[in-house]
Amino acid sequence: MGTYRIAVLPGDGVGKEVTSGAVEVLQAIASRFHHQFIFKYGLIGGEAIDRKGTPLPDETLHMCRQSDAVLLGAVGGPKWDKNPPHLRPEKGLLAIRKEMNLFANLRPVKVYPSLADSSPLKAHIIREADLLIVRELTGGLYFGKPSGRRVENGEEAAIDTLLYKREEIKRILKTAFELARKRRKKVTSVDKANVLESSRMWREIAEEVACDYPDVELEHMLVDNAAMQLIRNPKQFDVLVTENMFGDILSDEASMLTGSLGMLPSASLSTTGPSLYEPIHGSAPDLAGQNKANPIATILSAAMMLRLSFGLNKEADAIEKAVQQVLTSGYRTVDVAKKGQHVVSTKDMVDEIRATILDDEAIF
Ligand code: NAD
Ligand code: IPM
Ligand code: MN
Repeated sequence: MGTYRIAVLPGDGVGKEVTSGAVEVLQAIASRFHHQFIFKYGLIGGEAIDRKGTPLPDETLHMCRQSDAVLLGAVGGPKWDKNPPHLRPEKGLLAIRKEMNLFANLRPVKVYPSLADSSPLKAHIIREADLLIVRELTGGLYFGKPSGRRVENGEEAAIDTLLYKREEIKRILKTAFELARKRRKKVTSVDKANVLESSRMWREIAEEVACDYPDVELEHMLVDNAAMQLIRNPKQFDVLVTENMFGDILSDEASMLTGSLGMLPSASLSTTGPSLYEPIHGSAPDLAGQNKANPIATILSAAMMLRLSFGLNKEADAIEKAVQQVLTSGYRTVDVAKKGQHVVSTKDMVDEIRATILDDEAIF
């Protein structure tokens, strides 16, 4: 029996619905495996702007730093889309990633056999695809200076800067190689080295780091080709490692192998403090408040928390197996339901996963 402090930041839109579902699932785990999870709630994103005047209040950051792990929903929505840059919900997310040094974002893409028909791709292409996108999360275009508007030769101009320091690239590549060692021992480093100097340095460092991992195969792939290969033949990939923005885009694309953006979890790891777990999707304004969002991405993020932050492997397995079982028995939220299939709500999906975890007959 263990006691763990979890900071919960529901955020905006469907963020609230999916985190409440994941908390219920964690409570079922606590009861079945005799742990204690202490949940503390904090504001981030649009709601934090409305109530505290900033997308990441100090008290939220403080609470997260005092916790053993953080569970986050999603931020953003049309209400704040015209706000100035420092008062955008997304700024809160970027700030917490930077402040907590969450440089390694792990986005596993696993195809559930029972959802093979939910993907727009052909079943034989996606079946058994199992890859991990390792996205650098605290550098690159999202954080480089200068960034903003200025006047160039009397004309309005905008600038963003793609900057990486050697050590930032080295640590994310090492993370990718370490993870590949525990998987199928292949790293695909994705870049745009035919155009970008930052990518050429990235490639150089990848070669250097690879020398310490002779048991792991390294290949380089240009990002435009990688986007195509993910659809053409996703089974060729084991670990993909890439810079911040390429990883953002490729992971939304890769979610379609699983049938929905609502299926992909993530872990954002730091070496200096607690880690953060969140689905890769956003606040889905088109579904918010309707009890329709798929909670599985967030529930699987909670499973990653149990495994990676608390070392609770059996408990993480129980969540993953329960999700698999519920999908196999035909439960589908609207995003993964095919024509004619029965559609369940967010709450129904959560209840079924909880019931499966609590079922005395289930062996985990
Ligand atoms: P989105 O991820 O919110 O939605 C894209 C599409 O996927 C929508 O059709 C949506 O309905 C669907 N979708 C997303 N999550 C789903 C779920 N759990 N179940 C079923 N369907 C789901 O992306 P967007 O529409 O481009 O952005 C909306 C807002 O979210 C923006 O303000 C954006 O900045 C923000 N955003 C936040 C995060 C985050 O907090 N990590 C991530 C991405 C986008
Ligand atoms: C994600 C999101 C964020 C990102 C946005 C909301 C800042 O798209 O977590 O993937 O681009 O990192
Ligand atoms: Mn994204």
